[in-house]
Amino acid sequence: MNNLVTLGEFVIQHQQDYPEATGDLSQIFGAIKLASKLVHREINKAGIADIVGYAGQKNVQGEQQQKLDVYANDKFKTALAARGLVCGLASEEEESFVEFTQPQHKGSKYIVLIDPIDGSSNIDVNVAVGTIFSIYRRVSPHQEPVQIEDFLQCGTEQVAAGYVIYGSSTMLVYTTGNGVNGFTFDPSIGVYYLSHPNMAIPSKGTIYSVNEGNYVHFPVGVKQYIKYCQENDEATQRPYTSRYIGSLVADFHRNLLKGGIFIYPSYAENACGKLRLLYECNPMAFIMEQAGGAASDGRSRIIERVPNALHQRTPFFVGSPKMVEKAEAFMAYVGS
Ligand code: AHG
Ligand code: MN
Ligand code: MN
Repeated sequence: MNNLVTLGEFVIQHQQDYPEATGDLSQIFGAIKLASKLVHREINKAGIADIVGYAGQKNVQGEQQQKLDVYANDKFKTALAARGLVCGLASEEEESFVEFTQPQHKGSKYIVLIDPIDGSSNIDVNVAVGTIFSIYRRVSPHQEPVQIEDFLQCGTEQVAAGYVIYGSSTMLVYTTGNGVNGFTFDPSIGVYYLSHPNMAIPSKGTIYSVNEGNYVHFPVGVKQYIKYCQENDEATQRPYTSRYIGSLVADFHRNLLKGGIFIYPSYAENACGKLRLLYECNPMAFIMEQAGGAASDGRSRIIERVPNALHQRTPFFVGSPKMVEKAEAFMAYVGS
């Protein structure tokens, strides 16, 4: 590991990139780092500890909550509340936003949206899962209780966004709007080190990631794009490779490193697809654009969407710009 820059040092070194956030962001990142280390520990002993399996209740999405979903949600919520800079949190695992009302939260100016465990269905089969987070400045008066409009901001207003991937190693990847940097966790001393400076996605790739089990229900434009990927589209280009893990964070991270496109389109009765705009698509879109990629709903830029509900869903096309462009061309051509 060259020159051993830790995540903490890096955030402090770069906070002049974000003058209004003197020191605040490094404290918020401190909370996210702490909670991610606790989740890393639980994931890496899930087989032994009583942490796999269902918690026996459902979340607002009507999805069975995994014990790790509940554990991770609790740890990130507690760690962020303890810092006093965050006045509220919205989570996939919470029906409404959570207001932090301790004395230390008076005048705090940030809100966080989070998917505590992304790819939950993969926990019990030992496949990579992740955490996704998105940070905004609040827009309501600082001395007042946090409001829903603090959470329903366009993705363009994000102060920072990032994800943790709990894979063969645990990594934290984030942006504050000045590029994307990746940090690998060394569990032997509990430190994240800068391992992937200035991450940039290749403009084209040969990997497409989509759950083809839903193929018959896809819009015609997506069906045609998949067929395009499967045909030899240029003289020398061999057919693309299909890779789909079922954890957005893991599929996204692989495509970010190698080039590729991830698509979760609308399908059948799910006119808005499955992925949530506020705590999955907006943060991942911010990161992807900062890494030179593109992110849309098949037609328009995801981070310009005006949200109207905490858990609203959206079709999601994200990855190498030339590949997203091609998929959007198929969507526009057939008007589907
Ligand atoms: P979560 O576990 O937070 O609900 O997210 C799961 C999402 C996402 O991680 C993944 O890309 C997608 O669900 C997979 O959905 P399908 O199993 O329908 O393909
Ligand atoms: Mn998710
Ligand atoms: Mn989740």
